[in-house]
Amino acid sequence: MADTTSEVKVLGFAGSLRKSSYNRAALQAVRELLPPGMTLEICDLAPIPLFNEDVERDAFPAVVAEFKERIAAADALLIATPEYNYSIPGVLKNALDWASRPPGQSPLMDKPLAFMGASTGYFGTSRAQYHLRQVCVVLNMHPLNSPEVFISGAASKFDESGRLIDPMFRNSISKLLQALQEWTIRLRG
Ligand SMILES: Cc1cc2nc3c(=O)[nH]c(=O)nc-3n(C[C@H](O)[C@H](O)[C@H](O)COP(=O)(O)O)c2cc1C
Repeated sequence: MADTTSEVKVLGFAGSLRKSSYNRAALQAVRELLPPGMTLEICDLAPIPLFNEDVERDAFPAVVAEFKERIAAADALLIATPEYNYSIPGVLKNALDWASRPPGQSPLMDKPLAFMGASTGYFGTSRAQYHLRQVCVVLNMHPLNSPEVFISGAASKFDESGRLIDPMFRNSISKLLQALQEWTIRLRG
């Protein structure tokens, strides 16, 4: 996986399947804000089936195997999560559950990552992000602690084309990306 240079390859995914998702739009904003040396690939979680241990045993889905390979090839992950009922959406949890399987073969293990999230509410996915942080414990991932990006009131932070137009949040995302780059390089040791 990780190379030894200062290049950092990031795989990003959003926990929303909605075409006009603010979280997908926030990942698109990342493309405009990448620091030198960092690249971003975006992965769509829509094709990932619902986890079923019978399917895992009998016919591990090719789409999940490919998802795992893309995670393994990335130096770091960037997850943009909505908040559903104070937690992460099932779509995101399901994708992480698949990626964690089978036991002992999880490409998530030891992976640096950062989160951000956009919600239409006041708290900007903070509760969901703290649940996600808890999931990272069992997955043995290394989430960045700071800065945190909680895009609240998302409906007024993006324009009609889905571009993030809020300067404060654009600046927060830039800082998050720089910190993720430094964190990833630091963890390479
Ligand atoms: C099932 C469901 C539960 C939700 N629960 C919350 C919530 O707990 N907190 C919150 O701030 N927004 C909540 N929302 C509103 C989402 O923030 C809003 O739909 C947001 O646009 C979803 O992200 P997306 O634009 O990336 O799809 C909820 C929406 C749905 C569909």
